[in-house]
Amino acid sequence: MEESLIGIKNSAISLIIDSNDLKSLEEVKLQFLGRRGKLTLAIKDITKLPIEKRPEIGMLANEVKNTIEETIFNKEKELSSQKFETRKEKIDKTAPGTVPEIGHLHPMTQMLWEVVDVFKSLGYQAADGPEIETDYYNFEVLNIPKDHPARDTQQTLYLDTRKSKATPGEIILRTQTSAMQGRVMEKTKPPVRVIVPGKNFRYEQVDASHGFEFWQTEGFLVDRNVRLTDLFGTIDYVLRKLMGNDIKIKFATTNFPFVEPGVDTYIECTVCKGKGCSFCKYSGWSEIMPAGMIHPNVLKAVGYNPEVVSGFAFAIGLSRLVTLRYQMDDLRLLTNPDLRIINQF
Ligand code: DAH
Repeated sequence: MEESLIGIKNSAISLIIDSNDLKSLEEVKLQFLGRRGKLTLAIKDITKLPIEKRPEIGMLANEVKNTIEETIFNKEKELSSQKFETRKEKIDKTAPGTVPEIGHLHPMTQMLWEVVDVFKSLGYQAADGPEIETDYYNFEVLNIPKDHPARDTQQTLYLDTRKSKATPGEIILRTQTSAMQGRVMEKTKPPVRVIVPGKNFRYEQVDASHGFEFWQTEGFLVDRNVRLTDLFGTIDYVLRKLMGNDIKIKFATTNFPFVEPGVDTYIECTVCKGKGCSFCKYSGWSEIMPAGMIHPNVLKAVGYNPEVVSGFAFAIGLSRLVTLRYQMDDLRLLTNPDLRIINQF
């Protein structure tokens, strides 16, 4: 018995020393110390010995077990530190890392932020308003009563209010951010200087220059002695900031019920440089910013006195700005999720 225990110890130790990795060390461990391991079985056999022999052999068996365990423990430490070292060698700290791909702001968002920045620098505050709007703010307060022909140009999407208390036809998706004029002005005493970036919705046939959903930034300013020339100066300053100093700008009269006079702003077509192309419908100019002096009826409707204050209002089509800046001939490219398009900006 003594001999066999010494034999077990020696063969265990030599196998442990020869182990090259943690896996084979684990196998050696099982082979000797596992439930059916050589040493475990030998220890069980001690009970078969004559009783007076047992303490001596028992002590020896314990010693053998401790030695094996200790040797395994040390070898384990050695192998795992080696494992660490080999891994460390493989890391080349000087190799350039993999740069994670990060996205960037969509060209529409970039433009929106620029627009907001320019107006903030002129002292405007940005306001946010509801996309689900009432007929009152979208039309009535803006001097567009029911039956006014101007409503025909704003193909309106009506909400189904049959199960609610709302008057039929009263709740709509806003067709213009101008709807915020009434909401802001009736709560604010002049002077006011506000822009409203936001989405509008119309029942439009979608094509290269129309969408059923589009971004506008409405703006308005009311104070004492505000004149048409203040509006021209503001538009001129803002457009040159956004589109470059050497753009050509022209104004023409137009009609919107909530302004008098109404003004259409054009810039020379960036695609053909004024020569005429399909983008500008061969006129050489692109409409970019409708505007005007706020109609006295609107000022009255929000509780202002048109004898004392005056103001101007304007709207910037955001996608128009983007397509003009990048000479894009189809607005739908801006909502196309294809990364080959978006990554160009
Ligand atoms: N709300 C008008 C539209 O979407 C655009 C507009 C025209 C806004 C003249 C204005 C303005 O503030 O003065 O068709």
